[in-house]
Amino acid sequence: MTAASTGRTTAELVGEGRALSMRGITKRFPGVIALDDVSLDVRRGELHAICGENGAGKSTLMKILSGVYQPDAGTLKIHGRMARFAGTRDAELAGVAIIHQELNLVEDLSVAANVFLGRERRGWAGLIDDATMEAETARLLDMLECRVSPRAPAGSLRVGDQQLVEIAKALSLDASILVMDEPTSALTEAESARLERTIQRLRERGTTILSISHKMDEVFRQADRITVLRDGRHVRTVERAATTPTEITGWMVGREIAGHSFHEPRPRGETLLAVRGLTLPWPEHPRGYRLADVSLDLHAGEIVGVAGLMGAGRTELLETIFGASPPTWTGEIRVDGRPVRFMHPREACAAGIALVTEDRKRLGLFPDLDVAGNVSLCSLAKARRGGFVSRTREEALVAGPIRDTGVKTPGPHAAITGLSGGNQQKCIIGRWLLTEPRILLLDDPTRGIDVGAKAELYALIDRLCRRGMGVLLTSSELPELLTLSDRILVLAEGRLTAEFARADATEHRILEAATGCTARPTAKDAPP
Ligand SMILES: Nc1ncnc2c1ncn2[C@@H]1O[C@H](COP(=O)(O)OP(=O)(O)OP(=O)(O)O)[C@@H](O)[C@H]1O
Ligand SMILES: [Mg+2]
Repeated sequence: MTAASTGRTTAELVGEGRALSMRGITKRFPGVIALDDVSLDVRRGELHAICGENGAGKSTLMKILSGVYQPDAGTLKIHGRMARFAGTRDAELAGVAIIHQELNLVEDLSVAANVFLGRERRGWAGLIDDATMEAETARLLDMLECRVSPRAPAGSLRVGDQQLVEIAKALSLDASILVMDEPTSALTEAESARLERTIQRLRERGTTILSISHKMDEVFRQADRITVLRDGRHVRTVERAATTPTEITGWMVGREIAGHSFHEPRPRGETLLAVRGLTLPWPEHPRGYRLADVSLDLHAGEIVGVAGLMGAGRTELLETIFGASPPTWTGEIRVDGRPVRFMHPREACAAGIALVTEDRKRLGLFPDLDVAGNVSLCSLAKARRGGFVSRTREEALVAGPIRDTGVKTPGPHAAITGLSGGNQQKCIIGRWLLTEPRILLLDDPTRGIDVGAKAELYALIDRLCRRGMGVLLTSSELPELLTLSDRILVLAEGRLTAEFARADATEHRILEAATGCTARPTAKDAPP
């Protein structure tokens, strides 16, 4: 809410005091200074965005604010009062709640049990009062437009709903300061819109919100003020109205972002992948199919973008090609001219195909392995010597991908869990590049990756294509597709509705094809 929309002057709002004041916060981890003398004031009731590159220290600062970490130096004032949090419970008592970048609900417990975890309501003779907790949870979820049962196990929920459960928890705590670490990075468009409405409602109640995001449009739509961190230092705090996305990016990166153009034509080679009439049934759904009659070709040296709204079938298309979807599909997939039907991703891998997804938790990270272990995972044969994995060979093996993808890590044997979210994602990209795939399937690969690192990854993908790789790319960000792709295919409700050459593709035309349901006429009839 701006001063104008509340009918009060900015001076009055400032006069209402600070929700939060951090002074000289410093935090070290083995080998890194995550935060170096950071000071930050947040006004009561404002939405304050925190921007910065991967590893800049955003999550760490928010974890200190919410009692997950204790600072090595510095002080914290909440609503004018000195605070020292020994744990998250202390922060909650002071009215600070956090929704983490990687959600952490207890999957086996019910939604209601998660909301009241550690603060269970008790009734007669001290027995846990499930009914009261469920009723209270239902009321909160209703307010959040979340249609799930308070009794459902949290693990059975979609990510978007899990996130709302975390917000319900924050509401039940009556938090006056809510911290959200990349809240929309795993959400569908509809879920993001719902979250935005929720945020608006929270703001009307006077909640102060700190939000981390790599999406500039989101930041500029929502924030009152923006703080930029770089390499653990505070760079700038500005009024949103007094700055621009370009200026913010400049402060984040602290250098020119390589203005690489990918429009120099790449030589197009032989057909690597040919898909004909691919149909993937969806028995329990009224539509009956997830994909219907999809045909496409991918050539060596080519980047083909697949656009579409969430639920259009982008992920299903890539997973079916990769052997990671139910083997119930019909149609034909050929790799190098030979028909294939992979029953397991391992087989696709052996055929020179790799799939990078944005879902780090599901298909991605192994928290018990270190950085090198996570990167070399699919190429271990190369590091093996007499049945054992040689540490030196493994280090040599992963050095390339770690450098190429720009992973920021204290060393190859650092814990993967110690890396920032964006750097974990870069490790997964590195893992698949190491398998030297000929066909690279990228499913929204740069979610949570900062602007500078994105530009470097694009250059890397371009280089690999020039050496003969073919890429099938999906992205939730159209500019990314428009930057990289030679051709763009559009999926709507499981069908291809349009194909654009790079020169003809615009955001407007793509969106039109993605939302309009006029399927491209095909020779075959529609499947049941
Ligand atoms: N538990 C930890 N152990 C070791 N190092 C850590 C730990 N947590 C964070 N770090 C390091 O501190 C630095 C800041 O990390 P942080 O997670 O705060 O970055 P971020 O700004 O949130 O990045 P991203 O945009 O990728 O999420 C990084 O170098 C990271 O590796
Ligand atoms: Mg982070």
